[in-house]
Amino acid sequence: MPAFPENFLWGTATAAYQVEGAWNEDGRGPSIWDTFSHTPGLVANGDTGDEACDHYHRLEEDLDLLAGLGVGAYRFSISWPRVQPGGSGALNRPGVDFYNRLVDGLLARDIAPVATLYHWDLPQELEDAGGWPERETALRFAEYARLMGEELGDRVRTWITLNEPWCSAYLGYASGVHAPARTDAAAALAALHHLNLGHGLAVQALRSTAARGAQMSVTLNLHHVRGVSERDADAVRRADALANRAFLGPMLEGAYPRDLIADTAKVTDWSFVRDGDEAAACQPLDVLGVNYYNPTLVRQWDGGGARETADGHQDGAASPWIACEDIEFVKQPGPYTEMGWNIDETGLTELLLRLHRDYPDLPTMITENGAAFPDPVSADGVVHDADRVDYLHRHLTAVSEAIAGGADVRGYFVWSLMDNFEWAHGYAKRFGIVRVDRETMARTWKDSAHWYRDVVATGKLPVA
Ligand code: FCB
Repeated sequence: MPAFPENFLWGTATAAYQVEGAWNEDGRGPSIWDTFSHTPGLVANGDTGDEACDHYHRLEEDLDLLAGLGVGAYRFSISWPRVQPGGSGALNRPGVDFYNRLVDGLLARDIAPVATLYHWDLPQELEDAGGWPERETALRFAEYARLMGEELGDRVRTWITLNEPWCSAYLGYASGVHAPARTDAAAALAALHHLNLGHGLAVQALRSTAARGAQMSVTLNLHHVRGVSERDADAVRRADALANRAFLGPMLEGAYPRDLIADTAKVTDWSFVRDGDEAAACQPLDVLGVNYYNPTLVRQWDGGGARETADGHQDGAASPWIACEDIEFVKQPGPYTEMGWNIDETGLTELLLRLHRDYPDLPTMITENGAAFPDPVSADGVVHDADRVDYLHRHLTAVSEAIAGGADVRGYFVWSLMDNFEWAHGYAKRFGIVRVDRETMARTWKDSAHWYRDVVATGKLPVA
């Protein structure tokens, strides 16, 4: 019966665009995800985040939901265009007030606010000016971070600068399956750099405005990359460079990996990296946020037959894997979740142990883990999601094994508190431990929510 350290932080996670709705209310500006979802054909079923889970208007109810679960922390994101509509200039007071109410409501319920500054909803005005491939966006981001530190920094204890910059750079600008739907590999690498730089500048800005002792973090969707055989070691190295070390290098070691620069030389000369940028990206962090769903399996491609691209990230007009044309992403054995992602918790243990080995002084926190399943509503009106309970149980066991192996893991956040707008999949994929009825917006606990409440209350996993 694995137990967790006494101060282990148990939480759930959401993101602004996926739950808030109220997309054009109280002075909020448009974001790249409004533009994306309003473009016919880009999101399944034509779904948009216009209403999402109506969290903006149901804040109190959702805060009570969190209190009912007994969680010690809630990871949410701040919608940049809600608080600073065009991405620069004056703050939009009603938008800031929403987050004041959210933070105060959490603290009143003894729930620690964990705020992500950027979960993909760039103000459209900044994209119109070039978006993340432009250096200016990193500077705007730092200014926004400073302002949020001033507004909320007396109460938010943990700040996460970016959520999964991998997705922002590669899915947004290379494969185009996410906003802003661009397919330009060179621009994607420039975006990657400005995200890394923006992260570092934002940490600096927050350190100067937020309360002393506030924790600084970033959330990465590190890929646990495996090769089919030993012959695939170079494919593993290259995928690891693009997926992991492209962020860990500058953020934690102050330099881009040389092999990454060499691998991508035909795409860009990296001249957008200026003297001092890598040092600026590398700011001391208190905890590293890790999002984990499944591992990645690669193989060197010999050019024969159809190349496999089963990386779990949707096929777009181009690949998110820049300069990896001779690498295959191999379909892994099941079982699978509703996303088609294979269930394999061993990757999480291995990933946490690797991070512990490479960065022994930096604690980690699982800022997202969870699964989409079909979730039929039974005759009793309840979703009996034994598959999700099993997924969570397996992954929490994997976390406990990493802890037993020496990894300093400080917390775990289920993705997600409730069913929400799953990006280009729209509402078709349900990740919540709480069901959201799309007609009535009613929230109903699934079995997994009851299960998680018990885990949180006892700090232990029940015997399976
Ligand atoms: C992650 C995102 C999160 C959610 C989950 C399923 O990549 O950070 O918003 O969509 O995947």
